Parts: sequence; C-alpha cells; structure tokens
Amino acid sequence: MKKELVKKFEEIFGDKGEIKSYFAPGRVNLIGEHTDYNGGHVFPCALTIGTYAIARKRADNKLRFYSMNFEELGVLESNLNDLVFRKEADWTNYPKGVIWAFIEKGYPVQNGFDLLLYGNIPNGSGLSSSASVEVVTGFMLKDMLGFTLSMVDISLIGQYSENHFNGVNCGIMDQFSSAMGKKDHAIFLDTSNLSYEYAPIKLENSKIVIASSNKKRGLGDSKYNERRSECETALSEIQKVKDIKTLGDLTKEEFEELQTAIKDPIRRKRAKHAVYENQRTIKAVEALKANNLELFGKLMNESHISLRDDYEVTGMELDTLVEAAWEEEGVIGSRMTGAGFGGCSVSIVKNDKVEDFILHVGKKYKEKIGYEADFYVVDIGDGAREI
Ligand code: GLA
Repeated sequence: MKKELVKKFEEIFGDKGEIKSYFAPGRVNLIGEHTDYNGGHVFPCALTIGTYAIARKRADNKLRFYSMNFEELGVLESNLNDLVFRKEADWTNYPKGVIWAFIEKGYPVQNGFDLLLYGNIPNGSGLSSSASVEVVTGFMLKDMLGFTLSMVDISLIGQYSENHFNGVNCGIMDQFSSAMGKKDHAIFLDTSNLSYEYAPIKLENSKIVIASSNKKRGLGDSKYNERRSECETALSEIQKVKDIKTLGDLTKEEFEELQTAIKDPIRRKRAKHAVYENQRTIKAVEALKANNLELFGKLMNESHISLRDDYEVTGMELDTLVEAAWEEEGVIGSRMTGAGFGGCSVSIVKNDKVEDFILHVGKKYKEKIGYEADFYVVDIGDGAREI
C-alpha cells in the first residue's frame, strides 16, 4: 500500500526531497453514544481502515493537496496566509483546519507541504473519516516539524479544528480513538477528564460487523449541533437545582428526581438519553470484563432504543438495519454507531451466522429502503503512526 501511495505522490508532486508516510484509523463506537459532549463515558475502538498521508515539507508557504478519493478535483492549492474555511476548498478544509489549529495553539507552522491522502473508510459512513484526516495531519505536523506533543494533544487539536474551523461541535471521541487506538482493545474513556483504560475485546466466537446504510449524513451536522445545544440547555436548567458540571455527573435515580427542572419535554428526553447512556456504558464495560457478552449485547440494543426514542437520531435506515439484525439468530447485540442520521450500525454476530446475517439483513434493507446496504467484518487496529 505504502509503495503505491508514494509512487502516486511522486507522479503528482515529483520525487525530490524527504517523503514521509503516515496512517490514522477510523473508529467504531461499541457503546456510549452522544455522551462525549455531556461529560460521559464512551467505548470506541480504532479500525484497521483509515486515512493514509504521504507528505513532504516545502521551502515556501504553499499548501498543495491531492486526494486519491477525489481525483476529479486534482491538486487543490492554498497557502499558510489563507487558513480560512472556504466551501470551494472542499475536503482540504480538514487538513487546513488542523494547520490553523496548530498555529492557534502555539505550534508555529512556517513551511508549506505537499500532501497526498488516501482513505479506505467508506465516505460519509460515520466511521470518522474526517477525524482520521485530522489526526493523520496532526501526526504528520508533529513528526515533520519536531513538536513535542502527546497523542492526546494531537486528538485535542483535531477536535479544536473541527469545532472552530469546520463548525461541527463534535466531542473528543473520534479524534481520541484515532490517535489512541490499540489493536484488539476498545478504549473506555471518561470524557469529563480524559482518563481512559484499554479493555481487551476477546470475541472468540463472534465478529464485529458494520453495516453502512449508505445514507449520507447531509443535514446531520446541523442536527448534531442542535442536539448538543439541547443538552446544554437541559444541563443549565438542572444546575439551577443541583451543583453538577455535566449531565454525566448524574445517576439515573438523580435524574429521575431532578428531571422536572427541565421545562421542555423534548429536552428532558435528550438529557435522559445522555444520563442513561452514560450509566449503560459503565455497566457494559463491567459486563465485558466479567465475560458476560450477552449482557453487553443487551445493553447495545438498549442503547439503540434510547437513541431512537429519546435522542431521535436514528431514522428509518438505521432502524431498519438494527431491527433486522435483532431478528437474526446469532446476533449478540446491534445498534447504530456514531452521530446517527444515516451512517452505520454495529453488530456483534456469532462467527457461523455472519454470512446469513449479511444476506438476510441486506435483503430486508433493500426491500424496505430501496437501495443496498454494505457490510464490513472489521478488526480492531492501532492508533495513528508513521508507516
Ligand atoms: C460524532 C462526534 C463524536 C460523538 C458522536 C456521537 O461521531 O464526532 O464526538 O459525539 O458523534 O456519539
């Protein structure tokens, strides 16, 4: 893979100078959805698919970008004096945003770059292709410019650029998973203080199967920001009656007692999801540690129901995928994963049932939705690195 990418880089940008290669993965979240901006827990893992970056430092301040996923766009040019979001800059707003964020955070970037990217995460699938672009760019900048930065710092800068350059108020989960992933482990992350623990995922008799609804997010980003602000308002209403910092501070019992402080019933449902999902995630990790995969799966199913009924981010496509999965033999658990509003579901499926699962769920999806879903049996990989 690296060889082919470097060859392409040399074709596009010439073969002089030091050319370096990097990779940052996408992620799938097993449980803990829409909790990361509510001070709750998440339980994602990095995938073995992600974004490759081939880069070379330039002597001037030009930025030249090429993506093998958008070859029709050709080389997109910019420079270090033009680090502003531009619609016509298309996907390059992600790496540009990270360069901008490095400078904002006090890491001077004085040289331009030639940068070729190639991603093998299905586009717009909700498996964090954008976070993987941010993290691979951050890793490249750290390495090529010699900054002293931890992997957690790189993830925070990635999130900062997505929030302030690209205008999506995302939490830290995606960038954190891409930077900090560990092969065959999920990351149990407490987003209130970024403490984390790796939990081995030993699925002896089963596999993680991702189903992509092939529904692009589109409106999703504005809906995402809307959910986030609903939770912020709900938090400020609860703070009038109890001294808490985030919704993640509440137990289910405390929430039940205090919920009338939230005036609007829709907002109450949003906050309920945030509190219950956080508690569910803690319980799910305990179940996994106790080797109780069945309970883990049941909690995944409950997570989906809460995202469907209380948080309302699933939609017909994801509900169809997940409800069809629940009907299948050998499914330990199934839920939507990521932001929702399209994107993917994640299921844990017994090895000998994977084939039937793909066949049956695929058929039901096509019948109901009118187009195909795509299925991926995935492995858990390491975080960002030089290759
Ligand atoms: C997106 C965001 C994450 C997280 C999830 C929902 O992937 O980027 O920060 O909020 O949605 O859990």
